[in-house]
Amino acid sequence: MEILEAFASYEREALAAIDAAASADALEAARIEFLGKKQGRLKDVQGLLGKASPEERPVVGKRFNEIKDAVTLRWETRQQELCRPKAMATAIDLTLPGTPVRLGRRHPLTQTIDEFKDIMARFGFEVADGPELEDEWHNFQALNIPDDHPARDPLENFYLSTASTANAEPMLLRSQTSTVQIRIMEQRQPPIRIVSVGRVYRPDTIDATHSCMFHQMEGLMLGRDVTMASLKSVLRMFATAYLGGDVEVRFRPSFFPFTEPSVEVDVRWKHGWLELGGAGMVDPNELTAIGYDPEEVSGFAFGLGIERFCMLRHGISDIRNFYSNDLRFLGQF
Ligand code: DAH
Repeated sequence: MEILEAFASYEREALAAIDAAASADALEAARIEFLGKKQGRLKDVQGLLGKASPEERPVVGKRFNEIKDAVTLRWETRQQELCRPKAMATAIDLTLPGTPVRLGRRHPLTQTIDEFKDIMARFGFEVADGPELEDEWHNFQALNIPDDHPARDPLENFYLSTASTANAEPMLLRSQTSTVQIRIMEQRQPPIRIVSVGRVYRPDTIDATHSCMFHQMEGLMLGRDVTMASLKSVLRMFATAYLGGDVEVRFRPSFFPFTEPSVEVDVRWKHGWLELGGAGMVDPNELTAIGYDPEEVSGFAFGLGIERFCMLRHGISDIRNFYSNDLRFLGQF
């Protein structure tokens, strides 16, 4: 029968063209020629169906479907062969169990910092930033720390040699994040509620609880009726949010040149108390130095050690773990 012969030659040529296709482009060309929906060889042979007599029709119809399926299947198989990367076909044994992927994760200090910002954001504090390389005005003077104060001793700070700075003004790596209080007050008017988190530098002897670089979170709230009660509430709520509801917080009278009155903030730990940072009501001298009227504006500030909090929560006994990049330590967080 002529029709069946036409089917057979269509099938033969189509399979040969598909097998011969050596690239995706060639295979696509074969698809258009032999399997194209709108025009092409498949359309032509389909047209022959109408020429079959009523008796022939069931046989011819069945045969048409068979060759169409055979060509389509061969085309799909060839396409998979062409798409599979060569190396994969040989280099990977798919019967072996999968290799676990080791994903990186955030450093425990970064996790702590993110959580701190999150908690403080809930209390309405926005995040502010300041430079790590500072001048003496922002690190000391504006904070009411006089020239002869021991904290300004060059041996207590990382000063840059003046030869290495463009201007003659002495510059140092900031020893506290309180510098950001000043920078923010210089730029804005109250009400202000900010926290600033970052690195600070001190030439301390390195041991289990001291490092020459560590992190602090500075907080500043300024407005009309900000009181010591506001400070105590915010710090208590903060410590509870991070360390848990049963944490015991203590405020101990202290002294900082930039706050009056000043307190140190402790939490109960093991059989004693652990100091987490300092705080107080912003000293009127500091407000005046910036240009605010201390009769109009009041506020509190605090500075907390990030490492201390993180060590407390996770039971970490040596601060050096944070900086030694040991994956056995880091992998636990
Ligand atoms: N800057 C102080 C330090 O590094 C901590 C501090 C104390 C920050 C009292 C404050 C504050 O804002 O009010 O030791």
